[in-house]
Amino acid sequence: MTPAPLSQYLRDLIAAEGPLSVARYMQEALLHPAHGYYTRREPFGTDGDFITAPEICQVFGELIGLWSAAVWQQMGSPSRIALVEFGPGRGTLMADALRAVRIVPGFTDAAELHLVEASPRLREVQRAALPDIDVTWHDSPASLPPCPALMIGNEFFDALPIHQLVFLSGTWRERSIGWDRSEDRLAWTQKRAGPELVELVPETAGPPEEGDIFEISTVARTSMAEIARHIRRHGGAGLFIDYGHGRSAFGDTFQAVQCHKPADPLAAPGSADLTAHVDFDALLSGIGAEGCNAFGTVTQGAFLSALGIEHRVEQLQRNATATQAASLRSGARRLIEPAEMGTLFKVIAVAAPGIPELPGFGPPRDRARA
Ligand SMILES: C[S@@+](CC[C@H](N)C(=O)[O-])C[C@H]1O[C@@H](n2cnc3c(N)ncnc32)[C@H](O)[C@@H]1O
Repeated sequence: MTPAPLSQYLRDLIAAEGPLSVARYMQEALLHPAHGYYTRREPFGTDGDFITAPEICQVFGELIGLWSAAVWQQMGSPSRIALVEFGPGRGTLMADALRAVRIVPGFTDAAELHLVEASPRLREVQRAALPDIDVTWHDSPASLPPCPALMIGNEFFDALPIHQLVFLSGTWRERSIGWDRSEDRLAWTQKRAGPELVELVPETAGPPEEGDIFEISTVARTSMAEIARHIRRHGGAGLFIDYGHGRSAFGDTFQAVQCHKPADPLAAPGSADLTAHVDFDALLSGIGAEGCNAFGTVTQGAFLSALGIEHRVEQLQRNATATQAASLRSGARRLIEPAEMGTLFKVIAVAAPGIPELPGFGPPRDRARA
């Protein structure tokens, strides 16, 4: 059987360059300009591969919008603010957020919308979800305008490429992907690990044992550092929600999902979503290193409850049909229940040095630890 176009491309790439890091594999499988998952497929919703919080319940985006407006007021209501979303998917979160913030006088006039999105196809979907609004798209935070910013991102960091180091016979090697000629398919292998990666394994993870895996997303760390640098220079704050672990630890969290079920990550590149758990500890340390205040992690359940999800659902139910009311209630429950998304999903934030507190969080990380 002839492999699919992306598999053929990867086979040729491996023949030319040797085994690929997991990071390079994720980059190609998700964002290859012709055959990548986000370039080609419609992944969201019940007919797609996975469903995200804003697609489950409108209250998610509404509360995040109101969080942004509250921080804007805390900043003294500046006349110009960049409202930035990273990895906006179908644009649902932003559409819900912008509807909710209309009740905050002056915010809509002050806010200019910027979306950081890698997929040209999803940019078009976002354009359609946000009609009559001036939007500027960006490839990275580097091109954001030099003004205060409020940044948000839901399930953005989990889509960014990771490296996997594996501890074998007393040394760290890089887990990588080669081509098995007898089976004519992608296969796991390993190669020398660059010292620049090995030195990022923190001592707090403990002494490694044979076969332990440590995951490092250099792209996520660089993006968070860029975000924090922008916020330190120009003012503002950022809020990021994702699934992952609060403390850096060993473990293999690289996964593929197709039609709402786990899949083999190497079986059909470009056809399944590939993600890894976010190492929040690493991101929060990066925020501190850039001189900003770092907040979290708090669980999604605790965060949304602190922002008043119950109250907002009750408010909406008053003007809803019985079916709509039931769907609002079950959606909100799914977002906050510990057995659903309430505990696995966590929230972190970054704020300029002049912003010592943020809605939904306790004191910044350094003060909380002091
Ligand atoms: C899992 S989806 C989340 C979508 C949306 N935030 C939601 O909650 O429904 C990941 C999003 O990040 C985008 N993305 C992935 N890698 C990216 C990158 N390197 N730069 C910018 N956007 C990226 C994807 O195209 C997609 O819009």
